[in-house]
Amino acid sequence: MLKGRSLIEPLDLSKEEMEVLFDLAFEIEDKPETWKDSQRGKLLATLFFEASTRTRLSFEAAMMRLGGSCLGFADSGSSSAVKGESLADTIRTVACYADVIVMRNPKEGSALLASRCSGVPVINAGDGGHHHPTQTLTDLLTIKRLRGDINNICVGFCGDLKFGRTVHSLVKALSGYSGVKMIFISPKELKIPSYLTSSVFKNEKSNISFSETDNLDDIMGELDVLYMTRVQKERFFNEEDYIRLKDSYILTNDKMKAAKKDMMILHPLPRVNEISTEVDDDPRAAYFKQVRYGMFARMALLSLVLGYK
Ligand code: NCD
Repeated sequence: MLKGRSLIEPLDLSKEEMEVLFDLAFEIEDKPETWKDSQRGKLLATLFFEASTRTRLSFEAAMMRLGGSCLGFADSGSSSAVKGESLADTIRTVACYADVIVMRNPKEGSALLASRCSGVPVINAGDGGHHHPTQTLTDLLTIKRLRGDINNICVGFCGDLKFGRTVHSLVKALSGYSGVKMIFISPKELKIPSYLTSSVFKNEKSNISFSETDNLDDIMGELDVLYMTRVQKERFFNEEDYIRLKDSYILTNDKMKAAKKDMMILHPLPRVNEISTEVDDDPRAAYFKQVRYGMFARMALLSLVLGYK
């Protein structure tokens, strides 16, 4: 089904394919020892032209827990990119060594380009401010695991909705579910791009909807999921704007008093200041559970893309 396919943006997977992936992730979580040799002899290449902690390490952990091996670089400064090699040539080369490539690159569209010159599947681990589909699999898996259902929920996206690729990917993926209300909370300079809302919410008859605000407190009580994000410093053109906007929202225990008792706080991480560390002890804080589900989501994805048994 997914065998041999690349994953560039979230809608490359149908809702049914995502369901298969979630079921497999739960199966792996339940009996990890059954899977420990399932990818023996297979090689994963992780090519990270941009900083990462979770995405790269969770892919590597996922591959190793399936019995496979990893190679790659965490810093493009140590690759031939510094000598001027094109991305296409780097990908063609790595595709001669590895069975699957996971790439993060600051340029929007780079993952699609890589998939077109690769002889093996390419998984997009973030292309600039564009998409981050495996974070979306992580986010949806966490919602499904902790709530049981992804339909009929109100999701608040808060922070940098302009540059945040995890937001862009999750908004697209949620459009496939039913009864989803999205509330976009940001300063006006960091609003969700209109190309995205006009493509996702174009069908007036669909039962998904959105609204926009700059005030988190006003809508806190409506939310089932609060998706916090950091302001994406590396995508700003000038530092003054970043400094002015970086602390627009800071979630504290006091603000959490207005939230539903079963609201879930998600964050793709890294966190900077936008969630005060005092909130970590609140049972509604799910962002470290989310990190764990990210590894199971990636174990399931690698199993499906590479094939198993
Ligand atoms: C995110 C990313 O790289 O887009 N991190 C991640 O992969 N979990 C979010 C971010 O950097 O803010």
